[in-house]
Formats: sequence, structure tokens, C-alpha cells
Amino acid sequence: MTTMTVYALDSSNGLAARIGRAIGDRVVLLEGKEFPDGESYVRVPQRPEGPAILVASLHPPQDKNFVKLLLALEAISALKPEGLFVVVPYLAYARQDKRFLEGEPISVKVILRSIEAAGATGLVVVDVHKPSALSEHLSIPHRNAMPSREVAEYFKGRLRSPLVLAPDAGALERAKSVAEHLSADYDYLVKERDRVTGEVRVQPKSMDVQGRDVLIVDDVISTGGTVALAASTVLRQGASRVFAACTHAVMVKGALDLMMSSGVEEVVATDTVPSPVSRITVAPAIVEALKSLFDEVL
Ligand code: R5P
Repeated sequence: MTTMTVYALDSSNGLAARIGRAIGDRVVLLEGKEFPDGESYVRVPQRPEGPAILVASLHPPQDKNFVKLLLALEAISALKPEGLFVVVPYLAYARQDKRFLEGEPISVKVILRSIEAAGATGLVVVDVHKPSALSEHLSIPHRNAMPSREVAEYFKGRLRSPLVLAPDAGALERAKSVAEHLSADYDYLVKERDRVTGEVRVQPKSMDVQGRDVLIVDDVISTGGTVALAASTVLRQGASRVFAACTHAVMVKGALDLMMSSGVEEVVATDTVPSPVSRITVAPAIVEALKSLFDEVL
């Protein structure tokens, strides 16, 4: 690859370093501070050489990290790099991809359009909630990197008679892809969420889980409620052990306890959001997506 400059916001330094190592470039950490009134400040300490890559995940505090991302984009683009590619490993607000109730915003549209307006010339995200949202709301080239192979590798050889389970129909493609890498079966649950109270329910469905290990695969774990419900459903039906894997471990306080107390043996996630369970790196999947983006635009 040609010489590039990889920049990182402090919130994404670990993953940015892994990406930098994989493409053979050093990572430049952006300077940052908070003003006494709470406003954010960022500064690019070094001019870009060649195209610039900015790694900035939008994990909690999402709003603050989003503002820092926009400030960084404006600052880097003013230094006129030969292309400004943004890697947003966890794209916050992606689950609000339509107006579920009248009067709501399409939040993902606001986030994507703002990133483009701030100067990005290409975007890589990881396992975005609804991939079609990217082409719907962006006019710059983009990629959605999927960590299915990496998740499957983590569990290879550890599961007995595995069944990969999507906790809702929307998660089926992801579960299917992990199952294919594991040469395993897959299935899905039908989940309903009350849009006002947030309460999650699963429709009754009998599955072939008797005596098998079930691996629940989802994009995001937030409260852990979805995984906990899926786990207790399959354990009631005779599953032997239940594991859970997600891409984005947003995990609010109490999520891990909730899942473990529902019988989940182990929860594992990728490193798009730093957490105690983020043991799988998405750096290889991101680098592959970046290379494919460069082939298209550079
Ligand atoms: C929703 O459709 C997502 O794919 C996840 O299933 C959901 O965000 C998980 O949230 P929680 O952990 O709060 O149940």
C-alpha cells in the first residue's frame, strides 16, 4: 500500500494501533482536551502524508465521541490529505434507522450525512445494524466490514453439535455467515420489542437444540436483555450450553450479570467497543475493507 497517515482519537487508540500495525503505518494520536465548560478540543499534531485514515469509534459517551469525530474531520481535511477515509468501528445511533413512531428522527441518516459533510471521502464501518442505510444516506464510497470469520475462529473446535442462533430475524444473515465458517446449523428467533417501553418478547418456537451447544450471535449487546431471553428460551428447550458473541459490546451496567444469570457460559465481543469481553479483534476485517475501498478510489 502507498504511504498513509493513520490518525486516532484517544477513544479508539487500541484498535487504531492494531490497524496501523496491519497496514504497516504508525498511528498519530490526535491531541485532545476538554474545556472547563465541557466542550471538546482536538488538534492534529502532524500533517498527513498521502491519504489519511481516521479511526474513531462512537461508543459511549456517543454524543461526545461524535462531536470529536466531526471536529477531527474538519481539522484533517483542512490539511488537504490525498483522501480522507474514516473508520467508525461502532456506528452509534445505527439502530434508529427508521421512524418507528411518528415524530422520531432517522438518527443513522443524521450521523452518516454529518460525517460526509465534515469532509470524509470514504467510510468503513463494522457490522452496521442495517447495511442498506449506508447506500441510502451516503454518496461517498463505503464498506461494511463483517467479523464473521473472526468470531467463528474464536469458537472453532470448542462447541459440541453447535447451532448458531440469531436472536431476531434481522440478525439471521450474520448468524448464517458465522455458521458457515463453523460448518454448523443456524436458526433464528422471532423477537418483538415494545417501541415505547423497550420490553422484549420472543414468539414461541420449538427448535432442534436438545443436547447441543448454542451460540447466540448479535450485532449489539446493550442491556443484555435480548441475549438473556434467547438463552433462557433455548435452555428451556434442552440446549446443553449457551455462548453469546456480539460485534459491539456497548454493554450497560448489569448487562453481563443479566446474561450470566440467564445461563450463558461465556460472552465475547470484538474490539469495536473496548470492554472486558472484547477479545476478538476486527483489525483484519477493517484492513480488508480499507484495501477494497482504496482499490475503488485511489
Ligand atoms: C436490535 O435489533 C439489536 O440487534 C440488538 O438485538 C439489541 O440492540 C440488543 O439490545 P439489548 O442488549 O438491550 O437487548
